[in-house]
Amino acid sequence: MIQYIIQGGAKLNGSVAISGAKNAAVAILPATLLVSGRCRIENVPDISDVRLLLEILNDMGAEIHRLGRNTLEINCAHVRNATAPIELVRRIRASYYLIGAELGRFGHANVAMPGGCNFGVRPIDQHIKGFEALGAMVEQTGGYVVADAPKNGLRGGHVYLDIVSVGATMNIMLAAVLCSGMTIIENCAKEPHIVDLANFLNAMGAKISGAGTDIIKVRGVRALSGGSYTIIPDQIEAGTYMAAAAAVGGNVLIENVIPKHLDCITAKLREMGAEVTEYDDAIRVESNYRLHRSNVKTMPYPGFPTDMQPQIAVCMATAVGTSLVTEGVYDNRFRYTAELGRMGASVQVEGKTAIIDGVPHMHGCSVHACDLRAGAAMVIAGLCADGTTIIDDAHYIERGYEDIIGKLTNLGARIRRVETFEPVTTADVG
Ligand code: EPU
Repeated sequence: MIQYIIQGGAKLNGSVAISGAKNAAVAILPATLLVSGRCRIENVPDISDVRLLLEILNDMGAEIHRLGRNTLEINCAHVRNATAPIELVRRIRASYYLIGAELGRFGHANVAMPGGCNFGVRPIDQHIKGFEALGAMVEQTGGYVVADAPKNGLRGGHVYLDIVSVGATMNIMLAAVLCSGMTIIENCAKEPHIVDLANFLNAMGAKISGAGTDIIKVRGVRALSGGSYTIIPDQIEAGTYMAAAAAVGGNVLIENVIPKHLDCITAKLREMGAEVTEYDDAIRVESNYRLHRSNVKTMPYPGFPTDMQPQIAVCMATAVGTSLVTEGVYDNRFRYTAELGRMGASVQVEGKTAIIDGVPHMHGCSVHACDLRAGAAMVIAGLCADGTTIIDDAHYIERGYEDIIGKLTNLGARIRRVETFEPVTTADVG
């Protein structure tokens, strides 16, 4: 068990550099399967989801060289069409990108149903609808998704997504880049990582236009030849440090960001009373007083991201007044509110809305990281709270945050990590 132990109350001061975007990296790595030459990829975050995907690609026969902590060279020329190991695939949601990438490369995919954070039912019907529009036959049997291209290969098609889905938009792009003719995807997601995947594929020789708008057009090409690419900074990691600075208090310069991607978070934190200053590739958050209440509703980009919902809820937990958080993307992303309640927060969930009555103080205790972003929210809560907070199952946090302990320690936080068979309790640390 990995646990984080936090002594709350220390303000955050200094600067923190943001790593590459997790949700871009976890699509770009499977996308290397489509490339016949070498891909040099920079700014790859060193997080456990990425390490898992590299293990899967390695198992499939990819040649992978680490040229530095965040730079990889990947050559998938000799990959055989092996079924990726089920025990690895089931541990990560993004393994669904192997379906689009394998289908595009080999005309056949056989991938275990993806795992990942549990926010209620997370179907992949829109991905399948897209593959079928390209002529594939797709079956879900025995916990696997099996997809096959017709004899003469996939051909361009027209897909209208019924739900704005990040995963479906990217997966259909992956399946379409090497097929004959033009694919049009309508009502697509517009998140920065969608543009990043399109830019990566275009840098390798694909012809994709419209990424970042509602309609993406993919003109199929014969081959992708390889090249170099740098992944964009992580919007959610940046937002998490912004929320931490606002909730805990202090003055933090968040470096290596694209401020445009953070507009909705900047606006919300300003509304709540934090001082936010934008620079070309950095953002400063300063907060010296208790934040004010606000309301937020999560929605697809450019709306407020669902992946920032638990972190902003922690800002509201100690703000003055009553805030409402409405989840507009998932059925069930409020499991963490019970943990916040154990720390003295006053949160009541009614359907898709959490009603948060701000309290002046939260107190440390033993809590559980229910998932990646909920875990990040528990870290912020622990930094705000009086006394000691122990976060169990902190491995979830390491799926998406590179060196969170080192980065927060540099900002003055008192946080440490323990890995133990016998979980530490608050009684052990006093
Ligand atoms: N949905 C369907 N059918 C589909 C696909 C999605 O009904 O075929 C529904 C989902 O159940 C959900 C909504 O549509 O209610 C949106 O899901 P989406 O497909 O956009 O999410 P995803 O691709 O599964 C990615 C990120 C998530 C992030 C969401 C939303 C990756 C690997 N995951 O998931 O990231 O919450 O987009 O932005 O990119 C995280 O990083 O913590 C995380 C959970």
